[in-house]
Amino acid sequence: MYTQLEQREMVSPPVNVSTLARMKAKQEKIACLTAYDASFAQLVDLAGTDVVLVGDSLGMVIQGHSTTVPVTVDDMVYHCKSVSRGLQRAFLMADMPFMSYTSKDQALDNAVRLMQEGGAMMVKLEGGETQIDIVGYLARHDIPVCAHLGLKPQSVHKIGGFKVQGREAAAAKHMCGEAEALEQAGADVILVECVPNEVGTAITEALTVPVIGIGAGPDVDGQILVLYDALGVTQGKVPRFVRDFTAGGLAPMEGAKAFVAAVKDRSYPAPEHCFS
Ligand code: KIV
Repeated sequence: MYTQLEQREMVSPPVNVSTLARMKAKQEKIACLTAYDASFAQLVDLAGTDVVLVGDSLGMVIQGHSTTVPVTVDDMVYHCKSVSRGLQRAFLMADMPFMSYTSKDQALDNAVRLMQEGGAMMVKLEGGETQIDIVGYLARHDIPVCAHLGLKPQSVHKIGGFKVQGREAAAAKHMCGEAEALEQAGADVILVECVPNEVGTAITEALTVPVIGIGAGPDVDGQILVLYDALGVTQGKVPRFVRDFTAGGLAPMEGAKAFVAAVKDRSYPAPEHCFS
C-alpha cells in the first residue's frame, strides 16, 4: 500500500518535498527544468532533473503568446496530465495561471484541480505580501506551495516589461521580508526570478526552505530554466541568464544532462548569466 516505503530502497527514489529540504541542508544543488508534454518530461526525468515545472511559460513557448497572461487553468491541467505521465523520479510542480488565485476558495479549487486531475505535487503562484493569506490557506489544506518572487511575469503589464527586480536597496529589503513572511505562512519552496546576485544570496541565507533561482545568481539552492531556452530551441534574443546547453551540437538528452551537471557542479550560472 505505501509504495513510497518500497521506493525508498530504490537507487534513485522519486523526489518529494523532504528530498528538496534535505538537498538544501546538504548544500546539494537542485536542478529544475520546465516541460509541457510527456516526451520531454520523460527526457528531462531520465537526464536527472530533480524538479519539473509545468510553467505558464507554455503560453509563450507552446501557444505563441507574447506573455503568460492568456493561459487558463484548463490549459495547465491538460499539460500537467501529459507531463505527469512522462515522469518517474522528478517532482512535478505546476503553475497557477493568471487570476486563478484571487480568493482563498478559488485558489484552493484550482490547486486541487492541478493536483487531482493534473497530477501536480506542488503548485506555484506569483506574489509576495499580497499572497500571504492565500499561501497560508493552501498550506493549511496540505497543498505544497512554491511562491514566486522577483520578476513576476503575470504582472508584466503592471510593471511595464520583463525587468530585473530588487536593484534598489529598499526593494531588495522588502523582497527578503516577503520571502520570510511567505515561508512563515507555509510556503515549501520560494522561486526568485531576475534579481541581482546579492538578493538571491540574501533570500537563500535567510530561509530554511529551498530557494530556486532563474537569473538570481549562483548562491540559490537550485536553478531553473525554461526547457526550450536551455536546449537552444528559442529563437531570437534570450534573457541574459540563459545558456544553450546544446551548443556544440549536443542532442536534447545530452543538453539536458549537461544542464543538470552544470547546476550540480556550480559551473552554471557563470558571471555572464548574472545580474548586479
Ligand atoms: O512559467 C515558467 O516557466 C516559470 C519559470 C520561468 C520559473 O515560472
